[in-house]
Amino acid sequence: MTETNTKRVQVTVRTLQRMKRQGDKIAMLTAYDASFAAILDKANLDVILVGDSLGNVIQGRSSTLPVTMDEMIYHTAAVARGCHRPLLIADMPFMSYRSTDLALSNAARFMQEAGAHMVKLECTDAQRDIVSALVNEGIPVCAHLGLRPQSVHKLGGFWVQGRDESAAAAMLQQARQLEAAGADLLLLEAVPASLAAEISREVQVPVIGIGAGVECDGQVLVLYDVLGISQTRIPKFAQNFLTENISVQAAVEAYVAAVKSSAFPTEAHSFN
Ligand code: KIV
Repeated sequence: MTETNTKRVQVTVRTLQRMKRQGDKIAMLTAYDASFAAILDKANLDVILVGDSLGNVIQGRSSTLPVTMDEMIYHTAAVARGCHRPLLIADMPFMSYRSTDLALSNAARFMQEAGAHMVKLECTDAQRDIVSALVNEGIPVCAHLGLRPQSVHKLGGFWVQGRDESAAAAMLQQARQLEAAGADLLLLEAVPASLAAEISREVQVPVIGIGAGVECDGQVLVLYDVLGISQTRIPKFAQNFLTENISVQAAVEAYVAAVKSSAFPTEAHSFN
């Protein structure tokens, strides 16, 4: 299907670019199976991410590091069977993009075997050439900056990133460089709201935030946090939307509406 005015037409990178230009907020959530994907689709969510957070919420692990390509392919294919409208992003797991060749072959698996429309990589300057190589092969890329959970041991924990002046300048520079390398989407995790707002203004590509304030072009949360079923403490930047709604479907619809109207996130969900 091509882009038209009907609501059920599949979301593409062009749709997301247009939404940014028009100031329409992009609503994104994670999903890991076909049944939840169908609920998200019915709620008119724009983007589904099959996150390697499945290591935490599905597998009960304390980090995302043990998640494998085969596990990600399995879950991405399941989600793809459940959804039709949202753009589907697959998260490249730890060490699956440590060289350009490996990144190309693993990203190709996501597109060919699992039905993903885009891949996400946790990025620093070091991944710029890999992003270019993927994009040159026609594979859309979401570049994940800020708190990168696959680097938790290097970062020394799950801390807000870009708080001091030099780290903020470096992140802005990385965002510009990844856009120049061809990234179609940026994702900022646990970044001060003012820095995320500056990055969102500075780049042409849509910027999705998680713990990055309300001024990003869109928002993402882990679905299990939105439903209050994560077994760990709900992060400051997340919100349980099931407490005030009578069903999973209604909770997801409330999340989409809150993102679209900029009612979520509030300052209480954001970092300085
Ligand atoms: O793996 C994941 O779910 C993510 C989101 C938290 C952005 O990367």
